[in-house]
Amino acid sequence: MDALGLAATLSQSYVRGISKRRVFPGDMELVSLEAFREPWPDGPSPAAETIRLLDAAGSPATVATTGSRYFGFVTGGALPAALAADWMVSAWDQPAAMPILSPAVAAIESAAARWVLEALNLPASAAVSFPTGASYGNLIALAAARRAVLLRQNYDVDELGLRGAPPFRVIISDEAHSTLIKGLGVLGIGRQAVEIVPTDDQGRMRLEALPPLDNSTIVCVQAGNVNSGSFDPIADIAAKTKAAGAWLHVDGAFGLWARAAPHLAHLAAGIELADSWVTDGHKWLNTPYDCGIVICRDPQALHGAMSITAAYMPEGEIVPAKDRLVEFSRRARGVTVWAAMRVLGRQGLSDLIETCCKHAQTLRAGLLRMGWTIHNDVILNQVVASYESGERTELIRTAVNAEGICWFGPTRWRGQDAIRMSVSSWATAEGDIEAALDAISAAMISTAQST
Ligand SMILES: Cc1ncc(COP(=O)(O)O)c(C=O)c1O
Repeated sequence: MDALGLAATLSQSYVRGISKRRVFPGDMELVSLEAFREPWPDGPSPAAETIRLLDAAGSPATVATTGSRYFGFVTGGALPAALAADWMVSAWDQPAAMPILSPAVAAIESAAARWVLEALNLPASAAVSFPTGASYGNLIALAAARRAVLLRQNYDVDELGLRGAPPFRVIISDEAHSTLIKGLGVLGIGRQAVEIVPTDDQGRMRLEALPPLDNSTIVCVQAGNVNSGSFDPIADIAAKTKAAGAWLHVDGAFGLWARAAPHLAHLAAGIELADSWVTDGHKWLNTPYDCGIVICRDPQALHGAMSITAAYMPEGEIVPAKDRLVEFSRRARGVTVWAAMRVLGRQGLSDLIETCCKHAQTLRAGLLRMGWTIHNDVILNQVVASYESGERTELIRTAVNAEGICWFGPTRWRGQDAIRMSVSSWATAEGDIEAALDAISAAMISTAQST
């Protein structure tokens, strides 16, 4: 069999057998990684043998994030159709910069953009592009925001640079995601040169602590706290940013998708008033990695910060993708968004989001029955829980994860060591939550004598 046929066969058997794998590899599986310490071969290696090695040594040491019982980071699963579309994307190998490089990708990503705006109930005229993830999306949106607030002071920061720029302010909460803060550093705004608003026990920005705003201010809010799943009071903040002419940016890496589910949309009310938004395909939309989505109300602000020209790049009617994000050459990752949204449809997407939240409620109820403390209001797909002490909680978590049936991540929430549980995969069913609760119960018994 040739390498392509072999890869298809091995990938299919990986996908079909995912539920039989340990969720996190054990020591035995990790041994296989020794294979990757081989020296670089002097001569060519057979393609099929290379793919076989990848599967034999790599697959066992993967984490089964696409299975149904991974509750660690908010990884999402990969919808089979989105994964299959990703295979097509690899086969096509299109640098998705502009229509002249790939009319197909330009058309498909434009359809995906339209559907995303519709699903999230955001202005149809907004500009959309597909960076690697929310980290990059936040950076891109902040670059657009920085440009816009400085242009109001007649200063073109993208031409003239930050040295000599008039002052502008950035406001974040003390729960802003670390990747957004990294973006502030990369953009030269400075990780610490921001005004930080304190948050409440759920990690929501305290509205009364929001400083006075003006039109040279960028306010960054969060839709879906990475621990608690909480939302900043965005509608109230939006009223203030609108009144002051400030720029409002929403980091909704996973929480923005609440807007696609009628029973949850109230959590994300007012978000449509913002100026820029970021979310991920690879988290709750369940596209494969990597796939982020950045949206900007004013296309000109995004284009101004991101556009490039060169004699060999023809100008067309449509603003090409290269002028809506940082990269020129990049993977046609919007195609996976299109595939996921097409197979799900409006109803399927809503069901996916609401079912994950229902599973989070079942987890919460089961844990409460077993005497656990739940630290967050479980309004979305996140549960933060602890049992007795931080030490005991960690012992239980380690014991559960060692069994390989499911996987939970550690966190520290409001000064307390806890387990962070996230339900974000289409594959998770009621039985998986029961299996997780059984695994926790067994670990509570097996660790009872250890503290
Ligand atoms: C709120 C928030 N913002 C940004 C990110 C970074 O997203 P990505 O890993 O897609 O870059 C995350 C990741 O969990 C997140 O939860």
